[in-house]
Amino acid sequence: MKITFLGGGNMASALIGGMLERGFAAADIQVVELGSEAREALARRFGVRAVGAFDAESIACDVLLLAVKPQQMKAALAPLAGRLAGTLVISIAAGLRLADLGRWLGTPGAPYSRLVRCMPNTPALIGAGVTGLYADPSVDAAGREAAGRILAAVGSTVWADTEAQMDAVTAISGSGPAYVFHFIEALEAAGRSLGFDEAGARRLAIDTVLGAAQLAARSEDSPAVLRQKVTSKGGTTEAALASLAASGWHDALVAAVKAAEDRGRELGEQLGQD
Ligand SMILES: NC(=O)c1ccc[n+]([C@@H]2O[C@H](COP(=O)([O-])OP(=O)(O)OC[C@H]3O[C@@H](n4cnc5c(N)ncnc54)[C@H](OP(=O)(O)O)[C@@H]3O)[C@@H](O)[C@H]2O)c1
Repeated sequence: MKITFLGGGNMASALIGGMLERGFAAADIQVVELGSEAREALARRFGVRAVGAFDAESIACDVLLLAVKPQQMKAALAPLAGRLAGTLVISIAAGLRLADLGRWLGTPGAPYSRLVRCMPNTPALIGAGVTGLYADPSVDAAGREAAGRILAAVGSTVWADTEAQMDAVTAISGSGPAYVFHFIEALEAAGRSLGFDEAGARRLAIDTVLGAAQLAARSEDSPAVLRQKVTSKGGTTEAALASLAASGWHDALVAAVKAAEDRGRELGEQLGQD
């Protein structure tokens, strides 16, 4: 499977590194990247072919992976309009919809449709991401399998049933690391207010989140059951959880995710404007 990346920045580098570790061949990967220093770094680090603009060799691929910023996409796709035939196109650009990508890649009246849209999150940069994917209905099982295998190089994958769910993916796992960082900040602040220095409070906060997430990931029990197991009647955890409930913490988080979903929808509309 020949794969060409459009854009060779942070996320493309993470994907290429993960793919090489999982047995993809460097000889099958090319990158079209504007920056000469970035091209040299990609060639040196990964042994892949890196070029400054599309040429016959980079266009002749089975999979084209779109990894430029959403605002750069329309201009970056212009040289390809009407030139793809059968290539599976995978976009990791946040918020950009299939209809807009299809219009930019196709010809007037004939949008391109062999498209998969993905939303990875920043932990993908260390191979610990989670990616939501949605495929145009015209993409066959082999195309979905290829997209899933490529994104699995930087973490786990979850398929969405509808494109509208991609705004929810953005709100849950795309923005989600920020919610967790905010939680860590608050736990660290609590640790400091109870007498720990910054280093100690941060260690306690980060390792609590890390350990609890790993336990939740490995356990057969649901997060709710795990929570109940830590909560003894009349104990310290029960006191803390009662205080959180009184603050409306659960509902506040659900409302925050909804606000992110609404904003994702608005941004998607703006990004797709011609
Ligand atoms: N980073 C994340 O954690 C994350 C998470 C989810 C989704 N994403 C998505 O992943 C995509 C890439 O993000 P990133 O963080 O990797 O961005 P990035 O580091 O800025 O990489 C994009 C690269 O593409 C280059 N480029 C721009 N226009 C081009 C063109 N016409 N032809 C060839 N190369 C071009 C850019 O060069 P210049 O710097 O010279 O413009 C840059 O090196 C974005 O669409 C983003 O929404 C990223």
